[in-house]
Amino acid sequence: MEIISVINYKGGVGKTTVTSNLAAELAWEGKSVLILDMDAQASLTFSFVTPDYWDKHLKDNRTIKSWFDCISQGNPTMPLSDLRVRPEVVNKFLKTRGGCVDIISSHLGLINVDLELATLLGGASPTQTQKKYLKVHGKLREELNKLAQEMNYDVVLIDCPPNFNIVTKNALIASDKILVPAKPDYLSTLGIDYLKTSVETLIDDFNFYAKKDDEFNEASPEFMGVIFTMIQITSGRPISAQRQYISQTKRLGVPVFDSVFRENKTIFADAPRNGMPVVLNSYSNNTHSDIVAEIEQFVGEFRNKLGL
Ligand SMILES: Nc1ncnc2c1ncn2[C@@H]1O[C@H](COP(=O)(O)OP(=O)(O)OP(=O)(O)O)[C@@H](O)[C@H]1O
Ligand SMILES: [Mg+2]
Repeated sequence: MEIISVINYKGGVGKTTVTSNLAAELAWEGKSVLILDMDAQASLTFSFVTPDYWDKHLKDNRTIKSWFDCISQGNPTMPLSDLRVRPEVVNKFLKTRGGCVDIISSHLGLINVDLELATLLGGASPTQTQKKYLKVHGKLREELNKLAQEMNYDVVLIDCPPNFNIVTKNALIASDKILVPAKPDYLSTLGIDYLKTSVETLIDDFNFYAKKDDEFNEASPEFMGVIFTMIQITSGRPISAQRQYISQTKRLGVPVFDSVFRENKTIFADAPRNGMPVVLNSYSNNTHSDIVAEIEQFVGEFRNKLGL
């Protein structure tokens, strides 16, 4: 079992699209997958469940916000299995394939959770500070591993928000691997280097305390690689400006996936509405079938890297 955070500081680079398609294709190939939506925008949630279902069955006490609320209010957390649901549309389609996609949903109110968690930090003594830091940052890691074992998940994917707040830090500390979707442009490639440094600092800080505490194991997430998204293809390959940024990223020493997600607003924009990621939709035309082949290639590479 592997826990993977899908993250980039930059918004709108395709994190949620990569997460939903990766989850769906892995399940199609027979894997049991849990996806965890840690972004208050809840885009991943609404890619799999309808706003109506969320409103009636999840909003009040079955989202990751409820779980973080327990921590900030000093109450025991509910088991994450109480929050897990199996969205109907996609799983009906996966029925004969042996795999599944389960989701832990997000909530628009997750945006405020961070401020509340931050007030818990600090303490009158170094020991208190250490205990509080570990609880506020490391609890998800413990609970997610428990759930993944109970449910026999092959992969857990965490869709992170485009920031580096305490909720995001919980995701990173819980992860074995980090997957970075990025657009091949100047600002996105600058951000990757910065993200790498920020993750290293976070892990050093966490391990500084975890090392001295019996309850918490040290964290050591690895950079799995950058998956380039929104690629403009001409004559079967990315346009030259984008190829330059891809090469530049490789020179940073960050692993880069050979596969890419090409840009296609028509095909990618509509998919979330029907509860089925692009990779599982029936082909609308030749471009769609090329896109599906490219996503399958990416998932093949992803599985190879994990030995899955
Ligand atoms: N390959 C693609 N081609 C064209 N449009 C895309 C592609 N991938 C995603 N999009 C569109 O771009 C927008 C942003 O994508 P997505 O939500 O996946 O990014 P994100 O990084 O998760 O954003 P956020 O930071 O807001 O969470 C969406 O409208 C989505 O439909
Ligand atoms: Mg997103």
